Amino acid sequence: MNEHDSERIAGLLESEGYTKADDAEGADLVVLNTCAIRENADKRLYGTLGQLKRSKDRRPELRIAVGGCLVQKDKHLVLSKAPWVDVAFGTFAVGELPALLERRERSGVAAFEFREQTEVFPSALPARRNDPFHAWVAVSVGCDNACTFCIVPSVRGPQVSRRMGEILEEVRDLVDDGVVEVTLLGQNVNTYGRDLDGRPLFAELLRALDDIAGLRRVRFTSPHPHDFTPDVIDAMASSAVVCEHIHFPMQSGSDRVLKQMRRSYRIDRYLGWLERIRQAIPGIAVSTDIIVGFPGETEDDFADTIRAVEAARFDSAFTFLYSVRPGTQAASMEGAVEPGVAQERYERLVECQERISLERNLSTVGRRFEVLVEEVSSRKDPHKVTARTRTNKLVHVPAEARSTGEFVDVVVTEAHPHHLDALPA
Ligand code: 5AD
Ligand code: SF4
Repeated sequence: MNEHDSERIAGLLESEGYTKADDAEGADLVVLNTCAIRENADKRLYGTLGQLKRSKDRRPELRIAVGGCLVQKDKHLVLSKAPWVDVAFGTFAVGELPALLERRERSGVAAFEFREQTEVFPSALPARRNDPFHAWVAVSVGCDNACTFCIVPSVRGPQVSRRMGEILEEVRDLVDDGVVEVTLLGQNVNTYGRDLDGRPLFAELLRALDDIAGLRRVRFTSPHPHDFTPDVIDAMASSAVVCEHIHFPMQSGSDRVLKQMRRSYRIDRYLGWLERIRQAIPGIAVSTDIIVGFPGETEDDFADTIRAVEAARFDSAFTFLYSVRPGTQAASMEGAVEPGVAQERYERLVECQERISLERNLSTVGRRFEVLVEEVSSRKDPHKVTARTRTNKLVHVPAEARSTGEFVDVVVTEAHPHHLDALPA
């Protein structure tokens, strides 16, 4: 969602006549879009602002704007910690950036806007896409859940969905523009529409997208396991465009910790849902999010997480050390896990998942896949391009005559934990 916001910020500025600078050194304006999900984002913002201050001391005409979730969280604190910032804008004020920059010039003092509600649905703003063939499409913003570790509901507000007609129109326009793959975005994407007419419309949206000629791949992120209802599974199974991959955030394998996290499912149910999804959509790949070191997590709780990871056999996992977020319920919970203990558990978890990822990837060796070429100039190896399977696996393919956005049939030759090597079929 933040990446997409950055595209909108760039798109808005371009529509105002700005052009992209080659680097920050030569830029007249630097915009930082921030994330607040874990604490290191905080540290990075203020570190980067410190560096930019030195540039501004040399070039006082440099303008610095800061937006995003961290700004929504810190509000005026950003300007008091870094008074050299020219413009600060919260998550609901992306569309205001050009006006704020203008206000800054007129008044000579910092301009800011931290409203608490969205007035223009963000996707109505122009976007400058990074890829010609892929686009993010926001279907909703905000989240009505209250996972105790998570800052998102407080910086993105309650869920607001976009009208389905508008989404479909945007996707049709994108396809006319050469886009073949879209990723639907929402903090809790599968409750899309619940705030529109009282029922979730996500399955309907997936079905409607299947009818758009020229659209080849649909992905979505992130669903909450609790809301992954049978109608969504049916829609995925029957749709030709929806890719065989789901991101299915587990967070923990311990029922006690899940309860403390206010995740509504228990691990047996979670694994049961996963089983049903795999039966309905053969070959589907599954990724997940797992937090280690949540307050009160014992060695037994962590052992449950390892057991759940072994049972779930995820294709990949994003693993996170728990990070205290001020204002969340978990921030005031007792039983902080000692950093050394959390780190050691984290390493054990990564090791376990890497082994499973490799095993899952080994099962693809010798098999044929359609991949979409994403990047032709791999920094690591100029003779390789990076591509992706429908199951969201990263594939390295020989570079010869491949261009971005091209579909290629390949056969997997070698498996690694985080990518596959393949040759054209
Ligand atoms: N600490 C660590 N990880 C977190 N996440 C969200 N909040 C926190 C936190 N306070 C993780 C969750 C979520 C992903 C996007 O980030 O796993 O699914
Ligand atoms: Fe945060 Fe996701 Fe939980 Fe919403 S569903 S509170 S965004 S972790």
